[in-house]
Amino acid sequence: MPHPLEQLRDEALRQIESATDEQALETTRVKYLGRSGSISSWGEKMKALAKEEKPVVGKLLNEVRNAVTAAIESRNAQFHLQKESGALAKIDISLPGTPHEIGSLHPLHQMHERGIQIFRRMGFALAEGPDVETEWYCFDALNTPPDHPARNEQDTFYLPDGRLLRTHTSTVQIRAMESAPPPIRVIASGAAYRRDELDATHSPQFHQIEGLYVDENVSVADLKGELEFFMRELFGADSEIQFRPHFFPFTEPSLEVYVRSKALKGGEQWIEVAGCGMVHPAVFEAVNKARGDNAYDPEKWSGYAFGLGMDRLAMILFEIPDIRLFSQNDLRFLKQFA
Ligand code: DAH
Repeated sequence: MPHPLEQLRDEALRQIESATDEQALETTRVKYLGRSGSISSWGEKMKALAKEEKPVVGKLLNEVRNAVTAAIESRNAQFHLQKESGALAKIDISLPGTPHEIGSLHPLHQMHERGIQIFRRMGFALAEGPDVETEWYCFDALNTPPDHPARNEQDTFYLPDGRLLRTHTSTVQIRAMESAPPPIRVIASGAAYRRDELDATHSPQFHQIEGLYVDENVSVADLKGELEFFMRELFGADSEIQFRPHFFPFTEPSLEVYVRSKALKGGEQWIEVAGCGMVHPAVFEAVNKARGDNAYDPEKWSGYAFGLGMDRLAMILFEIPDIRLFSQNDLRFLKQFA
């Protein structure tokens, strides 16, 4: 004749086995193992037993409790497994996946990288300056006095606090010279802003690569040689380059750069791509004033500077007819440069 505890155990195991869900299982657990469950209550009953019976029944009680607890846990695990495989069954692994589109660099960015790479090979280091600037860096230090038309509010985006969005990257020339004595050989790549109406060839935000080289005995011949090399690297060995006199407040003489190449519009046309010139002594003096020394003594040092229109270069090189395409984020356009 089995002990009543063993009967309870067998009864509990049968119910656990036949429980159909987690809730039924929990009810069974409470019924047998809960605080006043029928197995648990044997703890109380033990007290009434004869002394020699206690260890035997105590051991049995432990075994029964362990067996029932283990059965409940394993049944619970079964329920979990069933749920998970039920969810998995709804997934059709034969369906095609969702492909991730691989991004690519923006054509303007690609243009900057090509330009920067060429200048790096020529020994230029990369310099930086902020887009939000002061009048000092954008105009005063660049020999552009307050009555100069470039400072007109119609051309420049002014912030309420008097700062402005730089109208060219020439600001970085001043920042570079303020922070290091000559000789200096840097380029800066970034955005510039002017209050232009947006049309096929104008944009209120455009992009430039600025260059500055200051050393002893730098001449227009150096400037010409380096820009010629740059254009040939970019547009092919047949490229021709032409300098035409111009005016910029911060260079003297000042020149505009034109290129002609088979790669560009069939080689028929001269196309303007940059402004450049020999750094004006007044720019060196302004830098000296800010530095508080005479590091850029115009008697000793000379330099050239240039500013390349990168949107223009990219439009010519990639045959892009409209500058607005750069900022419209049309994937059909961008994918052509992936
Ligand atoms: N900053 C001029 C512009 O945006 C371009 C330029 C001309 C840059 C002559 C220069 C320079 O460094 O020497 O129109």
